Amino acid sequence: MLAAFAHATSADDPVSALSVGERPEPIPPDGWVPITVRAASLNHHDVWTLRGAVTPAGGLPCVLGTDAAGVDDDGNEYVIHGVLGDPARGRGDETLDPERSVLSDAGHGTLAARIVVPRRNLVPKPAELSWAEAACLPTAWLTAYRMLFTKARARPGDRVLVQGAGGGVATAAILLARAAGLWVRVVTRDPAKADRAAELGAHEVVMSGTRLPSDCDVVLDTVGQATWKSSLGAVRPGGTVVLSGATTGFDAPTNLARLFSRQINVLGSTMGTRTELEDLIGFLVAGGVRPLVDSVAPLDSAGEQFSRLLSGQVFGKVVVEP
Ligand SMILES: NC(=O)c1ccc[n+]([C@@H]2O[C@H](COP(=O)([O-])OP(=O)(O)OC[C@H]3O[C@@H](n4cnc5c(N)ncnc54)[C@H](OP(=O)(O)O)[C@@H]3O)[C@@H](O)[C@H]2O)c1
Repeated sequence: MLAAFAHATSADDPVSALSVGERPEPIPPDGWVPITVRAASLNHHDVWTLRGAVTPAGGLPCVLGTDAAGVDDDGNEYVIHGVLGDPARGRGDETLDPERSVLSDAGHGTLAARIVVPRRNLVPKPAELSWAEAACLPTAWLTAYRMLFTKARARPGDRVLVQGAGGGVATAAILLARAAGLWVRVVTRDPAKADRAAELGAHEVVMSGTRLPSDCDVVLDTVGQATWKSSLGAVRPGGTVVLSGATTGFDAPTNLARLFSRQINVLGSTMGTRTELEDLIGFLVAGGVRPLVDSVAPLDSAGEQFSRLLSGQVFGKVVVEP
């Protein structure tokens, strides 16, 4: 079957570590189900694997991908929850299972014609969502949903700052926040992306490096090192900063005096539970919001699509179809 996989790792040239070609079809262990993939989306997590920052349990070669939507052998349509974890070991939350993994890290990534997933990871796909839209949900959109609503407990009228404009998580956060009645400020490096964030509904868009007022109830950061100082500066006393990624690096000094004197809540967040994925899907169906799809391309062009993702020119999610 056709798959996009890491055959090596390269910290400096991650796309050179990618191959697209034939891989053996995975055999489902007990309790797992084979799925024919209709659409899958690319994530920065795949880039971390190609760079060698994430080590797949089964070694290399490793099929990439944590997002997909597809059909089982009876024709039932599903969104695939990408988290492998036991809610019981995580005190009711599989993302807190100490042995938690995601599909590609366990060796069964989603950038393939056929995949195998645990039965509990199958979430019914509503007819209202296209295959491409459904394939955007399990990683970036679920992460943004959990950051906003589970972690920060954002409420209508709250002021939210989103670091970055065009990323998968950033576009999801902007659209979800607007749909939930929040006031949204976006910080971006790129004037063209600033215009597009405003079109998505951001109330205010500012360029990176602008001094920000400390007036936001919630700050969502996936950029890390480059934005951490500004994230802590942008939150109101008693407000919440949620971090779920560090694209630009992991070493960011923190002003501890500011943290305690202004009683800032700093929360980490990762992916989301199956229940949160169901809630997210319900939110989209009822509210009419849809994932922003940058482009849909054949799976065999995955190398080109990863190059686009790394170039920073993408706005929204990049989807591939086997
Ligand atoms: N913990 C989790 O479960 C989880 C889930 C999903 C993602 N993540 C992580 O979150 C990060 C973003 O993921 P993604 O899928 O949204 O990635 P992406 O689609 O590649 O987006 C990258 C984002 O980072 C911003 N950015 C990049 N470099 C920047 C810089 N130097 N200064 C300011 N902003 C910068 C971009 O903003 P512009 O619009 O200004 O270009 C863009 O919004 C990745 O590190 C990923 O691994 C973690």
